[in-house]
Amino acid sequence: MIVLGIDSSCDETSAAIVRDGRECLANVVASQTELHARFGGVVPEIACRAHLENFPWTIHEALQRAELTLDEVDGVAVTNRPGLVNALLVGVAAAKGIAFGRGLPLVGVDHIVAHIHASFLAEGGPPKFPCVALVVSGGHTSLYHLPTPTEHRLLGATRDDAAGEAFDKVARLLRLPYPGGPSIEAAARDGDPKGFPVPRTSPGKDNLDFSFSGMKTAVLYKAFGQDMRPKDAKQIEPRVPVADVAAGFQRAVVDVLVKTTLRAVEQTGVSDIVLGGGVAANTLLRERMRAAAERRGVRVVVPDKVLCTDNAAMVAVSGWFRLVAGESDGLDLDCHGRPVRAARV
Ligand code: KG4
Ligand code: ZN
Repeated sequence: MIVLGIDSSCDETSAAIVRDGRECLANVVASQTELHARFGGVVPEIACRAHLENFPWTIHEALQRAELTLDEVDGVAVTNRPGLVNALLVGVAAAKGIAFGRGLPLVGVDHIVAHIHASFLAEGGPPKFPCVALVVSGGHTSLYHLPTPTEHRLLGATRDDAAGEAFDKVARLLRLPYPGGPSIEAAARDGDPKGFPVPRTSPGKDNLDFSFSGMKTAVLYKAFGQDMRPKDAKQIEPRVPVADVAAGFQRAVVDVLVKTTLRAVEQTGVSDIVLGGGVAANTLLRERMRAAAERRGVRVVVPDKVLCTDNAAMVAVSGWFRLVAGESDGLDLDCHGRPVRAARV
Protein backbone atom coordinates (compact mmCIF):
# COMPACT_ATOMS: atom_id res chain seq x y z
CA MET A 1 0.00 0.00 0.00
CA ILE A 2 1.40 3.38 -1.05
CA VAL A 3 0.45 6.26 1.27
CA LEU A 4 0.90 9.96 0.61
CA GLY A 5 1.59 11.73 3.91
CA ILE A 6 1.04 15.46 4.49
CA ASP A 7 2.12 17.57 7.48
CA SER A 8 1.71 21.30 8.12
CA SER A 9 1.27 21.37 11.89
CA CYS A 10 3.82 24.12 12.52
CA ASP A 11 6.45 25.74 10.31
CA GLU A 12 7.54 22.86 8.06
CA THR A 13 5.58 22.01 4.93
CA SER A 14 6.09 18.33 4.26
CA ALA A 15 4.90 15.67 1.80
CA ALA A 16 6.10 12.06 1.78
CA ILE A 17 5.49 8.72 0.14
CA VAL A 18 5.76 5.54 2.24
CA ARG A 19 5.24 1.95 1.10
CA ASP A 20 3.53 -0.49 3.48
CA GLY A 21 4.20 1.69 6.52
CA ARG A 22 7.89 0.71 6.51
CA GLU A 23 9.70 1.95 3.43
CA CYS A 24 10.16 5.69 2.96
CA LEU A 25 10.28 6.34 -0.81
CA ALA A 26 10.39 10.15 -0.49
CA ASN A 27 10.25 12.70 2.31
CA VAL A 28 10.24 16.34 1.20
CA VAL A 29 10.44 18.98 3.94
CA ALA A 30 10.22 22.67 3.05
CA SER A 31 11.60 24.57 6.02
CA GLN A 32 10.28 28.04 6.81
CA THR A 33 13.01 28.76 9.38
CA GLU A 34 14.32 31.78 7.48
CA LEU A 35 10.86 33.37 7.31
CA HIS A 36 10.36 33.15 11.09
CA ALA A 37 13.94 33.64 12.33
CA ARG A 38 13.77 37.43 12.60
CA PHE A 39 10.68 37.14 14.83
CA GLY A 40 12.44 34.65 17.16
CA GLY A 41 9.58 32.15 16.81
CA VAL A 42 6.83 30.90 14.50
CA VAL A 43 4.31 33.50 13.29
CA PRO A 44 1.13 31.50 12.51
CA GLU A 45 -0.12 33.82 9.72
CA ILE A 46 3.21 33.66 7.91
CA ALA A 47 3.36 29.88 8.40
CA CYS A 48 -0.02 29.20 6.83
CA ARG A 49 0.63 31.44 3.82
CA ALA A 50 3.95 29.69 3.21
CA HIS A 51 2.23 26.28 3.48
CA LEU A 52 -0.16 27.40 0.75
CA GLU A 53 2.76 28.25 -1.53
CA ASN A 54 4.79 25.17 -0.64
CA PHE A 55 2.26 22.35 -0.88
CA PRO A 56 1.88 22.08 -4.66
CA TRP A 57 5.61 21.69 -5.26
CA THR A 58 6.41 19.55 -2.18
CA ILE A 59 3.72 17.01 -3.14
CA HIS A 60 4.86 17.06 -6.75
CA GLU A 61 8.50 16.58 -5.72
CA ALA A 62 7.65 13.73 -3.33
CA LEU A 63 5.93 11.85 -6.17
CA GLN A 64 8.85 12.58 -8.50
CA ARG A 65 11.46 11.36 -6.02
CA ALA A 66 9.41 8.21 -5.39
CA GLU A 67 9.10 7.76 -9.19
CA LEU A 68 5.34 7.40 -8.85
CA THR A 69 2.23 9.21 -10.03
CA LEU A 70 -0.93 9.94 -8.06
CA ASP A 71 -2.52 6.98 -9.91
CA GLU A 72 -0.30 4.67 -7.86
CA VAL A 73 -1.18 6.18 -4.46
CA ASP A 74 -3.62 4.10 -2.37
CA GLY A 75 -4.48 6.54 0.41
CA VAL A 76 -3.83 10.00 1.86
CA ALA A 77 -2.82 10.61 5.50
CA VAL A 78 -2.73 14.12 6.96
CA THR A 79 -1.94 15.64 10.36
CA ASN A 80 -5.19 17.15 11.62
CA ARG A 81 -4.18 17.57 15.30
CA PRO A 82 -2.51 19.11 17.33
CA GLY A 83 -0.72 22.16 15.96
CA LEU A 84 -1.29 25.73 14.81
CA VAL A 85 -4.86 25.47 13.68
CA ASN A 86 -4.61 27.70 10.61
CA ALA A 87 -1.44 25.89 9.53
CA LEU A 88 -3.16 22.51 9.95
CA LEU A 89 -6.08 23.73 7.82
CA VAL A 90 -3.86 24.19 4.77
CA GLY A 91 -2.51 20.62 4.84
CA VAL A 92 -5.94 19.17 5.56
CA ALA A 93 -7.44 21.12 2.63
CA ALA A 94 -4.68 19.84 0.31
CA ALA A 95 -5.24 16.25 1.48
CA LYS A 96 -9.00 16.53 1.06
CA GLY A 97 -8.60 17.93 -2.46
CA ILE A 98 -6.38 15.04 -3.55
CA ALA A 99 -8.54 12.40 -1.83
CA PHE A 100 -11.74 13.80 -3.37
CA GLY A 101 -10.23 14.35 -6.83
CA ARG A 102 -8.72 10.86 -6.98
CA GLY A 103 -11.40 8.98 -5.03
CA LEU A 104 -8.82 7.92 -2.42
CA PRO A 105 -9.42 7.13 1.25
CA LEU A 106 -8.40 9.95 3.62
CA VAL A 107 -7.24 9.57 7.24
CA GLY A 108 -6.51 12.24 9.85
CA VAL A 109 -3.46 11.60 12.02
CA ASP A 110 -2.38 12.79 15.48
CA HIS A 111 0.98 14.54 15.09
CA ILE A 112 2.31 13.34 18.48
CA VAL A 113 1.44 9.71 17.74
CA ALA A 114 3.06 10.16 14.32
CA HIS A 115 6.32 11.18 16.08
CA ILE A 116 6.16 7.79 17.85
CA HIS A 117 5.38 5.97 14.58
CA ALA A 118 8.49 7.50 12.96
CA SER A 119 10.29 4.67 14.82
CA PHE A 120 8.91 2.25 12.17
CA LEU A 121 11.32 3.92 9.73
CA ALA A 122 14.34 3.62 12.06
CA GLU A 123 17.42 1.73 11.03
CA GLY A 124 17.42 -1.63 12.79
CA GLY A 125 13.66 -2.00 12.52
CA PRO A 126 10.62 -1.04 14.57
CA PRO A 127 10.41 -1.34 18.38
CA LYS A 128 9.22 -4.44 20.19
CA PHE A 129 5.85 -4.01 21.89
CA PRO A 130 4.98 -3.23 24.62
CA CYS A 131 7.35 -0.26 24.72
CA VAL A 132 7.74 3.17 26.29
CA ALA A 133 7.87 6.25 24.04
CA LEU A 134 9.28 9.67 24.90
CA VAL A 135 8.00 12.42 22.59
CA VAL A 136 10.07 15.58 23.02
CA SER A 137 9.22 18.45 20.73
CA GLY A 138 8.58 22.19 20.72
CA GLY A 139 5.03 21.69 21.96
CA HIS A 140 5.20 18.43 23.94
CA THR A 141 7.24 16.42 26.39
CA SER A 142 5.28 13.27 27.10
CA LEU A 143 5.92 9.67 28.08
CA TYR A 144 3.61 6.95 26.78
CA HIS A 145 3.21 3.23 27.32
CA LEU A 146 2.28 1.43 24.10
CA PRO A 147 0.96 -2.12 24.50
CA THR A 148 0.62 -2.29 20.68
CA PRO A 149 1.57 0.14 17.87
CA THR A 150 -1.90 1.69 17.87
CA GLU A 151 -2.69 1.90 21.59
CA HIS A 152 -1.08 4.46 23.88
CA ARG A 153 -1.52 5.44 27.52
CA LEU A 154 -0.07 8.69 28.81
CA LEU A 155 2.34 8.01 31.70
CA GLY A 156 3.55 11.55 32.29
CA ALA A 157 3.95 14.95 30.64
CA THR A 158 5.44 18.34 31.26
CA ARG A 159 3.59 20.51 33.70
CA ASP A 160 4.88 23.73 32.12
CA ASP A 161 7.27 24.24 29.19
CA ALA A 162 8.00 21.51 26.66
CA ALA A 163 11.70 20.61 26.47
CA GLY A 164 12.01 22.13 22.97
CA GLU A 165 10.23 25.27 24.12
CA ALA A 166 12.73 25.57 27.01
CA PHE A 167 15.64 25.18 24.55
CA ASP A 168 14.08 27.88 22.35
CA LYS A 169 13.55 30.28 25.28
CA VAL A 170 17.06 29.81 26.72
CA ALA A 171 18.53 30.31 23.23
CA ARG A 172 16.63 33.59 22.95
CA LEU A 173 18.06 34.74 26.32
CA LEU A 174 21.53 33.96 25.01
CA ARG A 175 20.77 35.68 21.69
CA LEU A 176 21.38 32.46 19.79
CA PRO A 177 19.46 32.07 16.51
CA TYR A 178 16.05 30.40 16.15
CA PRO A 179 15.32 27.50 16.34
CA GLY A 180 16.96 27.32 19.74
CA GLY A 181 17.53 23.57 20.11
CA PRO A 182 20.09 23.20 17.31
CA SER A 183 21.71 26.54 18.32
CA ILE A 184 22.14 25.44 21.94
CA GLU A 185 23.52 22.11 20.76
CA ALA A 186 26.04 23.86 18.47
CA ALA A 187 27.09 26.39 21.15
CA ALA A 188 27.44 23.61 23.76
CA ARG A 189 30.10 21.86 21.66
CA ASP A 190 32.72 24.39 22.85
CA GLY A 191 31.38 24.55 26.40
CA ASP A 192 31.92 22.77 29.70
CA PRO A 193 28.70 21.69 31.44
CA LYS A 194 30.55 21.67 34.79
CA GLY A 195 31.30 25.36 34.27
CA PHE A 196 27.58 26.12 34.57
CA PRO A 197 25.71 23.49 36.61
CA VAL A 198 21.92 23.81 36.31
CA PRO A 199 19.67 22.30 39.02
CA ARG A 200 17.59 19.34 37.79
CA THR A 201 13.97 19.99 38.64
CA SER A 202 11.23 17.40 38.73
CA PRO A 203 7.63 17.44 39.97
CA GLY A 204 8.40 14.46 42.27
CA LYS A 205 9.43 10.81 42.39
CA ASP A 206 5.85 9.52 42.68
CA ASN A 207 5.02 10.49 39.08
CA LEU A 208 6.54 10.56 35.59
CA ASP A 209 5.91 14.24 34.88
CA PHE A 210 8.46 16.86 33.83
CA SER A 211 9.02 20.54 34.64
CA PHE A 212 11.44 22.70 32.68
CA SER A 213 10.35 26.22 33.53
CA GLY A 214 12.36 26.28 36.81
CA MET A 215 15.49 25.19 34.97
CA LYS A 216 15.00 27.97 32.47
CA THR A 217 14.62 30.53 35.29
CA ALA A 218 17.72 29.12 37.03
CA VAL A 219 19.66 29.83 33.83
CA LEU A 220 18.32 33.39 33.75
CA TYR A 221 19.29 34.17 37.36
CA LYS A 222 22.63 32.34 37.35
CA ALA A 223 23.81 33.72 34.01
CA PHE A 224 22.50 37.28 34.26
CA GLY A 225 21.92 38.03 37.95
CA GLN A 226 19.27 37.41 40.60
CA ASP A 227 15.80 38.83 39.83
CA MET A 228 16.76 39.59 36.23
CA ARG A 229 13.77 39.77 33.87
CA PRO A 230 14.00 37.93 30.51
CA LYS A 231 13.48 41.10 28.46
CA ASP A 232 16.30 42.91 30.33
CA ALA A 233 18.62 39.90 30.08
CA LYS A 234 18.34 39.96 26.28
CA GLN A 235 20.04 43.38 26.28
CA ILE A 236 23.20 42.30 28.13
CA GLU A 237 25.98 39.74 27.96
CA PRO A 238 25.80 36.77 30.35
CA ARG A 239 28.37 36.67 33.19
CA VAL A 240 29.59 33.25 32.07
CA PRO A 241 30.65 32.07 28.60
CA VAL A 242 27.60 31.34 26.42
CA ALA A 243 29.10 27.96 25.49
CA ASP A 244 29.18 26.88 29.16
CA VAL A 245 25.60 28.07 29.75
CA ALA A 246 24.45 26.14 26.68
CA ALA A 247 26.37 23.01 27.72
CA GLY A 248 25.14 23.15 31.32
CA PHE A 249 21.51 23.65 30.32
CA GLN A 250 21.60 20.97 27.62
CA ARG A 251 23.17 18.47 30.05
CA ALA A 252 20.52 19.19 32.72
CA VAL A 253 17.57 18.78 30.31
CA VAL A 254 19.03 15.58 28.89
CA ASP A 255 19.68 14.15 32.38
CA VAL A 256 16.06 14.74 33.41
CA LEU A 257 14.68 13.23 30.17
CA VAL A 258 16.88 10.13 30.46
CA LYS A 259 16.25 9.58 34.19
CA THR A 260 12.46 9.90 33.92
CA THR A 261 12.26 7.66 30.85
CA LEU A 262 14.28 4.97 32.64
CA ARG A 263 11.92 5.19 35.62
CA ALA A 264 9.04 4.58 33.19
CA VAL A 265 10.91 1.55 31.83
CA GLU A 266 11.43 0.19 35.35
CA GLN A 267 7.77 0.67 36.22
CA THR A 268 6.42 -0.95 33.05
CA GLY A 269 9.08 -3.65 32.54
CA VAL A 270 9.37 -3.02 28.77
CA SER A 271 12.45 -3.91 26.72
CA ASP A 272 12.30 -1.06 24.15
CA ILE A 273 12.28 2.74 24.30
CA VAL A 274 11.11 4.87 21.36
CA LEU A 275 12.50 8.37 21.10
CA GLY A 276 10.74 10.90 18.86
CA GLY A 277 10.11 14.60 18.25
CA GLY A 278 12.42 17.48 17.33
CA VAL A 279 14.50 17.35 20.54
CA ALA A 280 15.25 13.67 19.77
CA ALA A 281 17.55 15.06 17.04
CA ASN A 282 19.85 16.18 19.89
CA THR A 283 23.05 14.11 19.81
CA LEU A 284 23.69 14.22 23.56
CA LEU A 285 20.14 12.98 24.27
CA ARG A 286 20.46 10.16 21.72
CA GLU A 287 23.87 9.08 23.12
CA ARG A 288 23.03 9.29 26.81
CA MET A 289 19.65 7.58 26.39
CA ARG A 290 21.31 4.75 24.45
CA ALA A 291 24.16 4.37 26.97
CA ALA A 292 21.85 4.38 30.01
CA ALA A 293 19.39 1.96 28.36
CA GLU A 294 22.16 -0.40 27.25
CA ARG A 295 23.40 -0.75 30.84
CA ARG A 296 19.94 -2.14 31.67
CA GLY A 297 19.66 -4.35 28.57
CA VAL A 298 17.05 -2.04 27.03
CA ARG A 299 17.02 -1.03 23.35
CA VAL A 300 16.49 2.55 22.15
CA VAL A 301 14.76 2.95 18.79
CA VAL A 302 15.32 6.41 17.38
CA PRO A 303 14.93 7.34 13.72
CA ASP A 304 17.29 9.46 11.62
CA LYS A 305 17.42 13.11 12.72
CA VAL A 306 15.31 14.29 9.75
CA LEU A 307 12.59 11.89 10.85
CA CYS A 308 12.68 13.27 14.44
CA THR A 309 11.89 16.87 13.48
CA ASP A 310 8.57 17.50 11.71
CA ASN A 311 8.09 15.44 8.55
CA ALA A 312 5.30 13.79 6.59
CA ALA A 313 6.89 10.33 6.37
CA MET A 314 5.89 9.66 9.99
CA VAL A 315 2.36 10.84 9.14
CA ALA A 316 2.18 8.36 6.24
CA VAL A 317 3.26 5.52 8.58
CA SER A 318 0.70 6.53 11.19
CA GLY A 319 -2.05 6.81 8.57
CA TRP A 320 -1.07 3.42 7.11
CA PHE A 321 -2.08 1.72 10.40
CA ARG A 322 -5.59 3.11 10.00
CA LEU A 323 -5.84 2.56 6.25
CA VAL A 324 -4.84 -1.15 6.42
CA ALA A 325 -7.46 -1.59 9.14
CA GLY A 326 -10.02 -0.31 6.61
CA GLU A 327 -10.60 2.97 8.45
CA SER A 328 -11.06 6.34 6.76
CA ASP A 329 -12.39 9.81 7.55
CA GLY A 330 -14.97 11.84 5.66
CA LEU A 331 -14.38 15.08 3.81
CA ASP A 332 -15.77 16.81 6.92
CA LEU A 333 -12.51 15.96 8.77
CA ASP A 334 -11.84 18.72 11.32
CA CYS A 335 -8.61 20.25 12.64
CA HIS A 336 -7.85 20.49 16.36
CA GLY A 337 -5.22 22.91 17.61
CA ARG A 338 -4.83 21.25 20.99
CA PRO A 339 -3.96 17.64 21.71
CA VAL A 340 -6.90 15.31 22.16
CA ARG A 341 -5.57 14.01 25.48
CA ALA A 342 -4.74 10.37 25.89
CA ALA A 343 -5.98 8.85 29.14
CA ARG A 344 -3.52 9.34 31.98
CA VAL A 345 -2.63 6.20 33.92
O1 KG4 B 1 8.97 18.05 16.48
P1 KG4 B 1 9.36 19.43 16.08
O2 KG4 B 1 10.11 19.60 14.78
O3 KG4 B 1 8.12 20.37 16.03
C1 KG4 B 1 7.07 20.24 17.00
O4 KG4 B 1 6.23 19.34 16.81
O5 KG4 B 1 7.15 21.01 17.99
O6 KG4 B 1 10.24 20.03 17.29
C2 KG4 B 1 10.75 21.32 17.25
C3 KG4 B 1 11.54 21.55 18.53
C4 KG4 B 1 12.05 22.98 18.66
O7 KG4 B 1 11.77 23.44 19.96
C5 KG4 B 1 13.55 22.85 18.43
O8 KG4 B 1 14.32 23.83 19.11
C6 KG4 B 1 13.81 21.46 18.96
O9 KG4 B 1 12.70 20.69 18.56
N1 KG4 B 1 15.04 20.86 18.39
C7 KG4 B 1 16.11 20.52 19.13
C8 KG4 B 1 17.08 20.06 18.21
N2 KG4 B 1 16.56 20.12 16.95
C9 KG4 B 1 15.29 20.61 17.08
N3 KG4 B 1 16.34 20.59 20.44
C10 KG4 B 1 17.55 20.20 20.89
N4 KG4 B 1 18.54 19.77 20.08
C11 KG4 B 1 18.35 19.69 18.74
N5 KG4 B 1 19.33 19.25 17.94
ZN1 ZN C 1 6.46 17.72 15.78
